[in-house]
Amino acid sequence: MDASTLKGSRYSVSRLFQDPALRDLLKPSPASHSLIDEQRVRNLYLQAATQQWFGPEKINFNEIITLDERTRLAWLHLTTVFYTLEKMGLNVIENMMAKAVRKLRSDEAAFYLSAQCFDEARHVFLLATYLRKLGGSPHYEKLYGVLGKAASIGAYRVENWLFSTLFSENFASAFLKHAQTAQIDPIGAELCKNLLLDETRHLHFLHAVLPDLLDRLSVLGKSYVRATQFFIMKFTEVAARSLDKDAGVVGLNRHSLLEEVFSNVERSYRNFGLNTRFLYFPAIAKI
Ligand SMILES: [Fe+2]
Ligand SMILES: [Fe+2]
Repeated sequence: MDASTLKGSRYSVSRLFQDPALRDLLKPSPASHSLIDEQRVRNLYLQAATQQWFGPEKINFNEIITLDERTRLAWLHLTTVFYTLEKMGLNVIENMMAKAVRKLRSDEAAFYLSAQCFDEARHVFLLATYLRKLGGSPHYEKLYGVLGKAASIGAYRVENWLFSTLFSENFASAFLKHAQTAQIDPIGAELCKNLLLDETRHLHFLHAVLPDLLDRLSVLGKSYVRATQFFIMKFTEVAARSLDKDAGVVGLNRHSLLEEVFSNVERSYRNFGLNTRFLYFPAIAKI
């Protein structure tokens, strides 16, 4: 495949590997001392690279948003909270990337996490643009800052961050899916659809690396991660109660959204082979 073919085509990872000129060149280094599956992470990096997109080209910000004032304000508030969580995720990945690459001893993780970091930058940029379109001004809600700290400080930082990411990516995916289904406005629905594609890939990365990381984690490490994860989920559950009214106004259901998130995280834990002592989830208040 020559450069001109690559430039103009919509190519997939499998097509790249079918190309005899590229097949061997695209394999990860065999001399690796990595703790994770380098080929799997290489594939995810290639997938991320071929799926990059430019927001203003994909999303038509010229569309008119016609929301009544109550709905606009409720949606503006919920989108600001989501923007805060995405911005926090971007700050944390920027801070944790190098530490994770060192811990995993993985060149492929360096490639892949750089792509994921750029995805998160795109999300924050587009959510800020969308908030302006909704008549607001993007700002960070300080209340949620504690989540970013819990996910990236203390002992077992890398493991803790990756587990926290498993929760936050599941949360983001469920929120985007519910918001897209609610069809609050055409721009928001299009934005959710496109962000969701990236978030799904982010979950694939975690499913690729977490089982290997868990195998090497001590009993103490597992207990530490378990306690932090419970705190993050409990905090989210309590904080979400205050958003119940706004969620109802735009047609979102806080309870079923959180239920979906917890059950998806629980399914992942089970797939990783974690036993029932690890599976500890907070109850979701009915209000
Ligand atoms: Fe994101
Ligand atoms: Fe993400």
